[in-house]
Amino acid sequence: MRARTPKSSTLLAVAAALLVAGCERPPIETAQQGYRGTGMVELANPRMVEASAELHAVPAPLPPAEAGGPTAGKTYQNVQVLGELSVGEFTRLMVAMTTWVSPQQGCAYCHAGADFASDSLYPKVVARRMLEMTRHINSDWKAHVANTGVTCYTCHRGQPVPAAVWFKDDSAERNIGSVGWRDHQNIGASSVGYTSLPYDPFSPFFADKGQIRVVGKTPLPPPSGQSIKQTEWTYGLMIHMSDSLGVNCTFCHNSRSFMSWDESSPKRTTAWHGIGMVGDLNRSYLEPLRGTYPAERLGPLGDAPKANCNTCHRGVSKPLNGVSMLEAHPELAPAGGAATPAPASSAASATLGSVLFKVGKSEISAESMKTVGEAIARLKDDGAMKVALSGFADRSGNPEQNLELAKNRAFAVRDALLAGGIAQDRIQLRKPEFAIAGANADSRRVDILPAE
Ligand code: HEC
Ligand code: HEC
Ligand code: HEC
Ligand code: HEC
Repeated sequence: MRARTPKSSTLLAVAAALLVAGCERPPIETAQQGYRGTGMVELANPRMVEASAELHAVPAPLPPAEAGGPTAGKTYQNVQVLGELSVGEFTRLMVAMTTWVSPQQGCAYCHAGADFASDSLYPKVVARRMLEMTRHINSDWKAHVANTGVTCYTCHRGQPVPAAVWFKDDSAERNIGSVGWRDHQNIGASSVGYTSLPYDPFSPFFADKGQIRVVGKTPLPPPSGQSIKQTEWTYGLMIHMSDSLGVNCTFCHNSRSFMSWDESSPKRTTAWHGIGMVGDLNRSYLEPLRGTYPAERLGPLGDAPKANCNTCHRGVSKPLNGVSMLEAHPELAPAGGAATPAPASSAASATLGSVLFKVGKSEISAESMKTVGEAIARLKDDGAMKVALSGFADRSGNPEQNLELAKNRAFAVRDALLAGGIAQDRIQLRKPEFAIAGANADSRRVDILPAE
């Protein structure tokens, strides 16, 4: 018995050494993010930060070009986006794009031989749309990218294909062998931090407009409550967001209540706009390029490569550590970097949005929740603003019941605003009315109107 003691203690020591070998060596630095005692603290290891410094370094900007002189639109044959630039500015941008996207391949990645006007190579056609997308991000999504903005380099980092793109993929469902239907779970995929959560948290929220809020607002689940399954998609998304930004949940939330906006940090609002932006980029720009790419660029289900938070962030809370490359390239922000209204405020002027309902229903659909979310964001941006909720009913069927329904719909919108952290005294309820129009979707609505 005695003889075995040293052996087992050696074994123990080896086992313990192996266990901690997977941990990070100190020092660990902490930075307080929220109020004391809320545990809203970020951890960072300076050694790890240094090791990834090169990825976040910014290439030196090119010397400015001469403005004035003939425009590119007048000088060249096939310039559809950058026509208003001077020839000097245009050439400078072509050189910059080459270093950002295809430094190894050079101009030839997009241009076939000396015929610069030809659109025969697909990367040129994609690049033209990318120019439009980059301008759209910088002028219409300031609520997320601020004046820091993005250039091609933010996503591409000297590669034609950004390191972080995603596709729809159901291979895990098809190659299941005897395991049975996994319903996208228990794969241990890197996309969700090797947890058992659904491995594709992107399709529901970055391609479709899925409902992210899952916390119940009543003690018992209402009939339309979010399922456990739904909750798992939300948690998968949250892990992707935390991973991409290199932060903990507490960067955005006070984990005492993941739902409460009042206890969240302002970064959560930035992130909320980020979710909207990524979906917009995928739906309006990246997925529609599907027909332009050669087959080998498409995913296993034939969809186009798409963006997520990591496409820009690459592990830090501000891409390229917050350095603005846009300053040296104002042509990529058509408004010249001046403050343009955030998307939420440009969406509607008189109203903060109309929440539409299905026939006979007073539950807010996932689609309509977006309108409510936009209203919440505006109310958060402007703390003095108050709103009035005005429910409308159509005249088809029983008018009494319809008015009752309109009232319940207004209550549902009020509850959603409250749940979004808007104080009760900022929300007024108006008497429900009959809509002027007949029985159509527009008459089954609640208007969110600015009020005194
Ligand atoms: C990543 C793709 C890409 C790279 C690399 C690239 N270009 Fe272009 N180039 C474009 C796109 C897109 C247009 C069309 C822009 C538009 O429609 O506004 C264009 C247009 C041009 C035109 C105008 C041709 C005409 O008559 O319509 C010239 C000249 C040109 N590029 C030169 C260059 C040079 C020189 C280089 C290398 C230093 C280069 N480009 C690298 C994408 C690229
Ligand atoms: C929000 C991130 C983002 C920005 C900003 C961006 N791109 Fe892209 N780009 C992508 C994604 C995602 C793809 C798809 C990758 C693939 O082709 O597999 C792509 C593809 C491309 C391709 C096709 C590459 C290939 O061989 O398939 C070119 C060329 C390109 N981008 C040029 C540009 C240029 C030029 C700019 C700046 C004007 C730019 N991109 C800005 C994300 C971005
Ligand atoms: C970068 C900011 C950010 C980080 C980090 C983050 N979240 Fe979130 N979280 C959000 C935003 C924004 C929403 C609301 C999305 C919406 O309503 O469209 C949200 C919503 C949620 C919800 C749903 C709340 C409700 O009202 O139903 C839960 C639960 C949640 N997060 C959990 C987490 C967890 C767990 C982590 C860490 C793994 C995390 N979050 C990390 C920004 C963040
Ligand atoms: C097109 C590139 C791009 C994409 C995609 C993107 N972001 Fe950002 N994000 C930025 C830029 C640029 C900034 C810096 C803005 C600034 O300087 O204030 C930023 C800032 C942030 C911040 C504020 C960080 C801080 O320290 O104040 C949060 C939070 C954030 N992003 C979350 C997200 C989330 C979550 C996603 C995915 C849903 C996402 N971002 C996708 C470009 C992007």
